[in-house]
Amino acid sequence: MNNLTEELKAHPGLSDIYGEASADVEAAADPESLEAVRVKHLGRKSPLLQLLRSIPKLPAEEKPVAGRLGNQVRAALEQALLTRKQELEESQLRERLAAEQVDITLPGEPFPRGHLHLITQTLWEIEDIFIGLGYRIAEGPEVETDYYNFTALNTPEGHPARSSHDTFFIEGHPDVLLRTHTSPVQIRVMEQEDPPVYIIAPGRVYRRDSDATHTPMFHQLEGLAVDENITMADLKGTLEVFVKSMFGAEREIRMRPHFFPFTEPSVEIDVSCMICEGSGCRACKHIGWLEILGAGMVDPNVFGFVDYDTDRVQGFAFGMGIERIAMLKHRMTDLRMFFDNDLRFIKQF
Ligand code: DAH
Repeated sequence: MNNLTEELKAHPGLSDIYGEASADVEAAADPESLEAVRVKHLGRKSPLLQLLRSIPKLPAEEKPVAGRLGNQVRAALEQALLTRKQELEESQLRERLAAEQVDITLPGEPFPRGHLHLITQTLWEIEDIFIGLGYRIAEGPEVETDYYNFTALNTPEGHPARSSHDTFFIEGHPDVLLRTHTSPVQIRVMEQEDPPVYIIAPGRVYRRDSDATHTPMFHQLEGLAVDENITMADLKGTLEVFVKSMFGAEREIRMRPHFFPFTEPSVEIDVSCMICEGSGCRACKHIGWLEILGAGMVDPNVFGFVDYDTDRVQGFAFGMGIERIAMLKHRMTDLRMFFDNDLRFIKQF
């Protein structure tokens, strides 16, 4: 190249063409202007091409030199254009890469972390207590039949106890309903297994109720113990352990006679009020006791439905509302807050 520049000194016309074209190539800042430079200096109307075309008309002794130098200049310019083109493309790519770079060192958007709902926490806490006492978890369907939800629980059709368990029925299937309690799991387990049975059955239940202390869906936990020589003292001892584990060792329980179709005798269990320590307050309606669950000795009629030998085994059962337990433990007043999904409430637990 330097030789060419050197040699061109004797040919000012060609030297100017080469010099100007080389400068234009260097100055082109992008592929588009480089293409314009190519057309200007190597296109058919360019001075170089015109010069090359006029060679045949030159005197014979000048032709060879003019032809060789002209073609060398053209080749040199073509090479320069190619080199410049590659340079421009590379720098364009570098610019794009720099502009579109993702900075992976930036801290990410924080992803909000949730936690277990208070109902689930409470359920797990209760389950832990009973598992510690040797119980195992059993489950049953939320869509139940009339037989398991009522009949086999000693609540035949027309029994007045059915009226407090109004629920949702499946259209066209009068025998299929959303279970009103977890008690049907008792029947399902006893149908499948021989005694001894020690189970708890947590889950959702449904009733046609809606106010500050009732929602159409809520949660219960059922308990069932069937074995030889089971007495009411076992029931009381078991529930006392549960209440003290759940609400504190200072809590006492008491039993009040009650009625449930599937237990005989039946009781309601109260816990000494944790707010006023038994002296009486608004929460316990000045009684000093708060109702927390229903229980009793399994009615022999129920054992009849599952072919258990009532001469050999006895049992106790209990059922509690999870929302109620959680409300007492956390001193809540409105049950509906559980299901409003207001984060200001949910985040507190
Ligand atoms: N199933 C009853 C209800 O939902 C609660 C209950 C009471 C369950 C006594 C029991 C029991 O197992 O023995 O109202």
